[in-house]
Amino acid sequence: MNKISDKNIFKPSWGYDKAPESTDHIQIKDQYELFINGDFVKPENQSYFKSTNPADGQVISRVAEASSADVDKAVEAARKAFKKWSALSGKERGKYIFRIARLIQERAREFAVIESLDGGKPIRESRDIDIPLAANHFFYYAGWADKLAYAFPNRKVLPVGVAGQIIPWNFPLLMAAWKLAPALATGNTVVLKPAETTPLTALKLAEVIKESGLPNGVVNIITGAGDTGAAIVEHPDIDKIAFTGSTTVGKYIQKALAGTDKKLTLELGGKGANIIFEDAAIDQSVEGIVNAIFFNQGHVCCAGSRLFVQESVADLVIDKLKQRMNSLMVGDPLDKNTDIGAINSAKQLKTINEYIKIGLQEGGEIYQPKCTLPKKGNWCAPTLFLNVSQSHRIVQEEIFGPVLAIQTFRTIDEVIEKANNTPFGLSAGVWTEKGSKIFYLTQKLNAGVVWANTYNKFDATSPFGGYKESGFGREGGLHGLKAYVKFD
Ligand code: NAI
Ligand code: MG
Repeated sequence: MNKISDKNIFKPSWGYDKAPESTDHIQIKDQYELFINGDFVKPENQSYFKSTNPADGQVISRVAEASSADVDKAVEAARKAFKKWSALSGKERGKYIFRIARLIQERAREFAVIESLDGGKPIRESRDIDIPLAANHFFYYAGWADKLAYAFPNRKVLPVGVAGQIIPWNFPLLMAAWKLAPALATGNTVVLKPAETTPLTALKLAEVIKESGLPNGVVNIITGAGDTGAAIVEHPDIDKIAFTGSTTVGKYIQKALAGTDKKLTLELGGKGANIIFEDAAIDQSVEGIVNAIFFNQGHVCCAGSRLFVQESVADLVIDKLKQRMNSLMVGDPLDKNTDIGAINSAKQLKTINEYIKIGLQEGGEIYQPKCTLPKKGNWCAPTLFLNVSQSHRIVQEEIFGPVLAIQTFRTIDEVIEKANNTPFGLSAGVWTEKGSKIFYLTQKLNAGVVWANTYNKFDATSPFGGYKESGFGREGGLHGLKAYVKFD
């Protein structure tokens, strides 16, 4: 009889074995061109930049850098395509969008792996959240394409024209879907620019769009950094700009468009309040706190980066939170066990580390679990700050990393005042067993999204967007159509 020795079963070093997702099924080209008028074309000035894997610093691919001459070409293609595309029936437009949705689903595994390689997010998240939600978004808006008369009853709905869309690096494919799907459903044509650290899934999407047979020029995907983005913003023949990214760039865009006829939606930064009441289910709340701030390394505009715990349960919640943080696995994004992947870029890691330093200098008490971070690549351990107050910079400013600032409160009025004492207004979370408290807070909190007994839940049918410095306009749901239509 085989005898399993106690020594093996109770090995003190017992942990999870590595469970890496394979990469042999993906195709990444060594070099990507610009997707203009249905073709992959070289940039006018032959300039390219590198996209690296933030988990090990390896170069994954070379990507074309669009100059203003290339932006001109892309806008021209979109303008030319607009006439026919906007004249198609909603039903016909819907067919193409459904096809794009299905193709994303069919290639979901490949998209997920490339998303994790290029941006550093855990494969569990790209596989279970980013990619399915991106497909969901196309399916949802495909359904609206022939029902616009029901979305806006008794009004003649017209597309806006050519939309310039600029997206960030935290949810690369998902943000492309948020931008493209409603624009196409309503008959607009598009010039889209992904972020410079994460262009690869958008370029994969360009391949899918080509495969879908979408008429040439309806979607143009051009790559580059801030200068390329600025050339889109300033292009005179663009009718609408949709931007997701930093509040600083959002402000520049708003200034640049002042006095023009261009429509604008801005989805900017946040500093979400996550509020735990003493009557909340404590263990679920602790999971909720972890999900709110450590999901996608905290690179989330709606992250619950300010935690407010009612004083009577604060010790218990913080103890449990620290324990839970000790079991979070930080490391290889392609490992299916990983909870926290790589920080998206060296620049972002520097920003996060600066904020950690500021937190310490301002007298905050730091807690980080013991974890060994990989030697190569950009990494940050999950971090808490206690002993902070409203005036601390780490409480007021967006860090965009796995760093949580914790405060306590005694009364509802106190926590409402603290939660709203921020220049942002994107998101909030409320944890309580009492429904009446939830309704009271959702009225009082100045945030575009308020989650109750959950956090960071997204759905294509639900509008998303901010107040104050978090921007304006809504994406998702029926509201999301509005940004891309005008009325006769
Ligand atoms: P960013 O706002 O510079 O980048 C976002 C997108 O804007 C990228 O595609 C970029 O190429 C483009 N862009 C940059 N300058 C532009 C310009 N002048 N005109 C038009 N487009 C331009 O964000 P960055 O520098 O990568 O991150 C800095 C901070 O911004 C982060 O630490 C975070 O706090 C915040 N951020 C917030 C995001 C959100 O979803 N709310 C997303 C990304 C960053
Ligand atoms: Mg990259």
